[in-house]
Amino acid sequence: MSDSRRVSQPAATSRRDFLKVSTVSVGAGVLGSLSLARSVHAQGSDVFKIALIGCGGRGTGAAVQALSTKANVKLVAMADAFRDTLDRSYEAILANCKDRVDVPEDRKFAGLDAYQKAIDSDASVVLLCTPPGFRPMQYEAAVKAGKHVFMEKPLAVDGPGVRRIVAANEEAKKKNLAVVVGFHMRHEANRQAAVKMLQDGAIGDIRFMRAYYHCSGVWVRPREKDQTEMQYQVRNWYYFNWLCGDQIVEQHVHDLDQCNWIKQAHPVEANGMGGRQVRTGKDVGEIFDHHAVEFTYADGTKLFSYCRQIPNCWDAFSEYANGTKGQAELM
Ligand SMILES: NC(=O)c1ccc[n+]([C@@H]2O[C@H](COP(=O)([O-])OP(=O)(O)OC[C@H]3O[C@@H](n4cnc5c(N)ncnc54)[C@H](O)[C@@H]3O)[C@@H](O)[C@H]2O)c1
Repeated sequence: MSDSRRVSQPAATSRRDFLKVSTVSVGAGVLGSLSLARSVHAQGSDVFKIALIGCGGRGTGAAVQALSTKANVKLVAMADAFRDTLDRSYEAILANCKDRVDVPEDRKFAGLDAYQKAIDSDASVVLLCTPPGFRPMQYEAAVKAGKHVFMEKPLAVDGPGVRRIVAANEEAKKKNLAVVVGFHMRHEANRQAAVKMLQDGAIGDIRFMRAYYHCSGVWVRPREKDQTEMQYQVRNWYYFNWLCGDQIVEQHVHDLDQCNWIKQAHPVEANGMGGRQVRTGKDVGEIFDHHAVEFTYADGTKLFSYCRQIPNCWDAFSEYANGTKGQAELM
């Protein structure tokens, strides 16, 4: 390992470019097992009609990105568990893309069943940007209705959820639906080139990898007066495993996906540990604040994975591969 090569990542593709690619003309190979279609135009129309489901930070951003493409795109329906969140999102989208928003009152849907109403609108594309605990149910509904889908990662929070996604995806393939997942790093040209170099043997046989997602943490949405327990947990979803899946699933999945992409395989074994060191207090639910996992691939390659949400520590969002002829760093 004397030849230490660094495969670095120049400027990332902008979010706008990412969605332009992802919702309209995705290249083969980008999506893993998810299906592709030739076109997402509504039948008999040249307008892409879009429905946004989950109008929080990412959903609002995804809608603005989708509406900022050169394609003939219109937002026609919005759905969120909470009306106040939907209203804020609507104003933000309107401020950015006024001419491409056509969401009258009767196509603004609030509540836990709102997603179905948006799917039932005449949109041909749905953006699923809710907490991942709801993703399998909402993806199934979108596929059943024959809608093309952009959905955020992660796709589920547990094994049963993953199996529902995989089964729904088989249906999506049969229906020739376009389906894209928000693993944005898979869409960056520089990263694609770097991963190809590694797959082509630039550092020899890869023997072990490391993946890090260390940051200070995310927002806390404290309990409000008169909230039901369900309203509280859905608002403060990051801290509840049935909605979030904890940090490995929710955030570190980006790094693990990169390693699986490099290896073109999934691990067959995982041994890990984690805990709560500084995450105390009544509004931080049940998730851990640090995790360490040793993954093993079928060929014996090890992946050492670390993630942490603790303020005022070393932050890292990167992956490293060590091979028989050198090492690579993806950041
Ligand atoms: N690819 C990326 O880099 C990236 C970046 C940020 C977030 N995300 C993903 O986007 C998703 C949303 O994250 P966010 O940061 O926007 O969170 P957020 O809390 O800002 O938004 C989630 C929204 O979904 C709504 N919601 C909750 N349950 C719902 C339901 N059953 N039906 C309809 N609406 C519902 C909430 O009220 C909220 O408005 C997560 O899966 C997250 O991992 C991905």
